[in-house]
Amino acid sequence: MKVLVTGGTGFIGSHTCVELLAAGHEVVILDNLYNSERSVCDAITAIAKKPVQFYQGDIRDRAGLDRLFEAENIDAVIHFAGLKAVGESVAKPLEYYDNNITGTLTLLESMRAHGVKRMVFSSSATVYGLSATPPFKEDAPLSVTNPYGRTKLMVEDILRDLCAAQADFCAVLLRYFNPIGAHESGLIGENPRGIPNNLFPYINKVALRQLPELHVFGNDYDTPDGTGVRDYIHVVDLAKGHVGALRLCESSTGATAINLGTGTGYSVLDIVHAFEKANGISIPYVIDPRRPGDVAVSLANPDRARQLLGWTAHKTLEDMCRDGWNFAKRAMEA
Ligand code: NAD
Ligand code: UFG
Repeated sequence: MKVLVTGGTGFIGSHTCVELLAAGHEVVILDNLYNSERSVCDAITAIAKKPVQFYQGDIRDRAGLDRLFEAENIDAVIHFAGLKAVGESVAKPLEYYDNNITGTLTLLESMRAHGVKRMVFSSSATVYGLSATPPFKEDAPLSVTNPYGRTKLMVEDILRDLCAAQADFCAVLLRYFNPIGAHESGLIGENPRGIPNNLFPYINKVALRQLPELHVFGNDYDTPDGTGVRDYIHVVDLAKGHVGALRLCESSTGATAINLGTGTGYSVLDIVHAFEKANGISIPYVIDPRRPGDVAVSLANPDRARQLLGWTAHKTLEDMCRDGWNFAKRAMEA
């Protein structure tokens, strides 16, 4: 298939482009480079040994989208483009609704005008909020606690409504758990600007000695060591899940939510110790109060992904720590 990948130069998008090319798909990237760089296309090509087409543009630009769909014969869209920082979304809700909701509506309208009827959407485990009991099954109650999460749930609802109205539309709603790591080549990975919000990039900065110590947000949760437990998944495993989701879209219609997680949980201190062991670098840390809005445990039930996509995660926590650091030590030092 010829696949439009919005946000394709970003962290998860770039790894997905590599897997799509390896599976024989053609890839067209649309990205406004708000949180990524043009050079990522060269890295994707270097890994996959196949070219990608790149359009610099914004999903809110209807005329630009129309030109793209007229020039390319797109069979399906994988939609990563959007803003993703929970804390920032509380401070800047309008920017989040504009990018993530208006942007998605504009994209869907342009898709409709050009007869494109398949979308794989980047949703998030954040839609399980505080009301579900881990490990989360896709039919668990959904709730959200911040504007970012609300944009993910709203787009899921929009796609469910669209599929109900248009019987030949397929939407796969992939609920990602906690992607970390990087491609083993070290050519693509995650390199957030400024002080990272998320655990793994923060640990990388401490390992580089660019930050003095990790702040562990709470050690009084009801978990084995008191620190928060998450379902960390290697970004390459996550990327491979999108190839399966595209296949599902080729052969079915309707809206289907699918968790992409491993089903195994690790605490903050598990990650610290695994990183230290895999890379031989000490990670000093201090215990801080809980971060507002955090849940004790977030964990996937990955059964549906296995059944519908024939997909399971294979890489280990050691792989995640080694590959993530292999990328970060080059990218973050530069
Ligand atoms: P990322 O920021 O690395 O990638 C997003 C890309 O979208 C960037 O390259 C950015 O430049 C681009 N973009 C943003 N707004 C755009 C717009 N209006 N038009 C065109 N391009 C735009 O983020 P990521 O970690 O790769 O996440 C990809 C998707 O997965 C996002 O939708 C995110 O919400 C979702 N997600 C991420 C995580 C995670 O932990 N990384 C977890 C759950 C869900
Ligand atoms: N943590 C720390 N110190 C830090 C950063 C994080 O102790 O400096 C802890 C958190 O309290 C949590 C765990 O590490 O227990 C993971 O935190 P992250 O910020 O890395 O990830 P979250 O699970 O909070 O959030 C991620 C994505 C969100 C998404 C959510 C659910 O960042 O976008 O998963 O999918 F909404």
